[in-house]
Amino acid sequence: VEQDIEVRFHYPVVFLRGLFDPHQSALACEIERADPNRRHRVLMFVDDGFASAWPRVAEDMAQYAQAWSQVMELMAPPIFVPGGEQIKHDMDTIRDLLHRLSRSGLCRHSFVLVAGGGAVLDAVGFCASLVHRGLRIIRVPTTVLAQNDAGVGVKTGLDTDGGKNTIGTFAPPYAVFNDLNFLRTLDDANWIGGTAEAFKVAILKDAAFFEYLEHHAEAIPRRDEQVMETLVVRCAELHLDHIRTGGDPFEFGTARPLDFGHWAAHQLEAISGYKIGHGPAVAVGIAVDSLYARHEGWLSDRDCERVLRALCRAGFPLWYEELDRRLPNGQREILEGLRTFREHLGGDLCLTYPHGIGRRREERTIRTQQIEDCIQELRERFGPRAPHDG
Ligand SMILES: NC(=O)c1ccc[n+]([C@@H]2O[C@H](COP(=O)([O-])OP(=O)(O)OC[C@H]3O[C@@H](n4cnc5c(N)ncnc54)[C@H](O)[C@@H]3O)[C@@H](O)[C@H]2O)c1
Ligand SMILES: [Zn+2]
Repeated sequence: VEQDIEVRFHYPVVFLRGLFDPHQSALACEIERADPNRRHRVLMFVDDGFASAWPRVAEDMAQYAQAWSQVMELMAPPIFVPGGEQIKHDMDTIRDLLHRLSRSGLCRHSFVLVAGGGAVLDAVGFCASLVHRGLRIIRVPTTVLAQNDAGVGVKTGLDTDGGKNTIGTFAPPYAVFNDLNFLRTLDDANWIGGTAEAFKVAILKDAAFFEYLEHHAEAIPRRDEQVMETLVVRCAELHLDHIRTGGDPFEFGTARPLDFGHWAAHQLEAISGYKIGHGPAVAVGIAVDSLYARHEGWLSDRDCERVLRALCRAGFPLWYEELDRRLPNGQREILEGLRTFREHLGGDLCLTYPHGIGRRREERTIRTQQIEDCIQELRERFGPRAPHDG
């Protein structure tokens, strides 16, 4: 008996300001769309780091639900959850989330709304995708990285001893609301950090966008809101295009075309004990893999320099002492990232590199000695005592 099943997914990613202003109907209309003839049960979760920057936000959420009470019924006051990567490997918090979700009177038609950074979206999204085999999830990403990447896609993930995102689900959201006002309170590290994903996707897919980033790189650390808005929207669009049209939204194949720079990034995050965030780690990963692409002749000297210089001007350090750490056998610890990436892909390594700016190629044979040389070059140019570059 051959089974052939097709399931369609549809979700809007909305950019707006003032999401929880009771006069802003976007969220209520989207919930109503599920079934205009009923009141929908909603449970809300808030990243506590986000909430300390926006002390009124939980109250605003509750008032919004009250103002739209013909559409939604809040099952409990908004629940605070710990912000940051820690939540993705704290199994006590995960168990507590599962417990709350399964004991709050929600059914498969209810909604879970989660507002926060990528880590909180991943953790709450993961739990919501398990309870009743999948609740409807509405994401409200509140960091640059979450609005332009982590919060708009179809995946959730937790970390284990084995590394980053070793456990997770494919769980497309019901809707995503990116309120650009929320970005204003980010510290500089998170404001700048999240832009690494924009560089990544621009280098692989959109030369004009890369030129825009290159020309406006210095406006990023100056906190230019106009540049940030353009960057976040375009980066999210490119990720969404990829998921919609790339032919493999649930990653059944071995290629991970948007994971340029990520084998090194995930490893760098893990060996730093997550002191180095995802964004800054991705910037280093982009630098390593761009140097590699130059060595192999896929990226010209000039284009490789454009990439490195733009990242520096945007405020990214391109060297961390963790890159120098070695295992007892003398091998750099960062190179272990290739092994974990290979395992994650299912045994066959397949890495994506730029082939000129705006185009990409996939490679299955990687020369580790060459990567050694690239890391050495980063050290000499951007490491301790290096002349300031870029
Ligand atoms: N599921 C996916 O497809 C996907 C894709 C990319 C990244 N990710 C994951 O996303 C995570 C990184 O997300 P991130 O960069 O948003 O970091 P994060 O979630 O760790 O948030 C960073 C910090 O900012 C705080 N914060 C959140 N919003 C704030 C605001 N508006 N003002 C002030 N502070 C605020 C948080 O409390 C936290 O302390 C990683 O775990 C990464 O693996 C997931
Ligand atoms: Zn990433």
